[in-house]
Amino acid sequence: MGFFDDFSRFFQTSTTSPLPHRLNGRHDAIIARNAARLAGKRVLDIASHDGRWSFAALKAGAAHVTGIEPRQSLVDNARQTFEHYGIASDAYALHTGDAFEFLRKREFDVVLCLGYFYHTIRHAELLDLIERTGAGFIVIDTEITAPQDALPDVDSTDPRLVFGNPYGIQLVRDQVEDQQMAFPDALTRNGYTLAGRTSRAAIRYMADHFGFRTDEFDWPAHFREHPEQRSAMVDYDEGWRSTFYLDRR
Ligand SMILES: C[S@@+](CC[C@H](N)C(=O)[O-])C[C@H]1O[C@@H](n2cnc3c(N)ncnc32)[C@H](O)[C@@H]1O
Repeated sequence: MGFFDDFSRFFQTSTTSPLPHRLNGRHDAIIARNAARLAGKRVLDIASHDGRWSFAALKAGAAHVTGIEPRQSLVDNARQTFEHYGIASDAYALHTGDAFEFLRKREFDVVLCLGYFYHTIRHAELLDLIERTGAGFIVIDTEITAPQDALPDVDSTDPRLVFGNPYGIQLVRDQVEDQQMAFPDALTRNGYTLAGRTSRAAIRYMADHFGFRTDEFDWPAHFREHPEQRSAMVDYDEGWRSTFYLDRR
């Protein structure tokens, strides 16, 4: 039994991998490990979807959560689920809109950026806006460059590394009508917009630039303990998705 087995509406309110093993495994990395960091905090949930992580943050003791999600039907689902499970209405605010527009001039203690960092090409701008919220702790759960494509990390302080630069961003295109992809934006042409899958090293590099230390969930160790979750989490298991923790220095 995992967290979401007690709140099984979340298995129906989204078509974006609402698999029990997957949601429960992600809960361990995103919420359970960070319960002390979330307790009593004002939390922003970027790409809040059907409210799964806003809800879990509240259950972990967050003082207030704010969700930002552009797809109205998902925001409606989140509202209905929160009401269904009796969450006090003054504990949350679920906004419909674009993360970049929303983030300007807002203050939060913790920012969750889950399943979104690879649905934008504006990574640095997003981290800049998050840093400006004053948040001391950020969780980024995202696809990253696959191990077979990754360049070895370098021990260099050169700010303009020319050879063997591991801080890459792989270009991909998102079909904007798909619920789990980027929402239509200014870069959209013919039903697709541009997005980028960063390398692990690029996340660390950008986090460092904006004044954060980076740590990472140990997914291999997690799967040794929970082999039953592997097949629902192939991206994490094969190492092309991970969960990062950014602490303000
Ligand atoms: C793969 S889902 C991730 C859902 C959830 N955060 C999770 O990790 O399980 C990507 C989400 O990003 C949302 N999204 C797309 N463009 C966005 C934007 N410009 N601002 C905020 N959210 C956006 C999508 O509507 C979708 O709900």
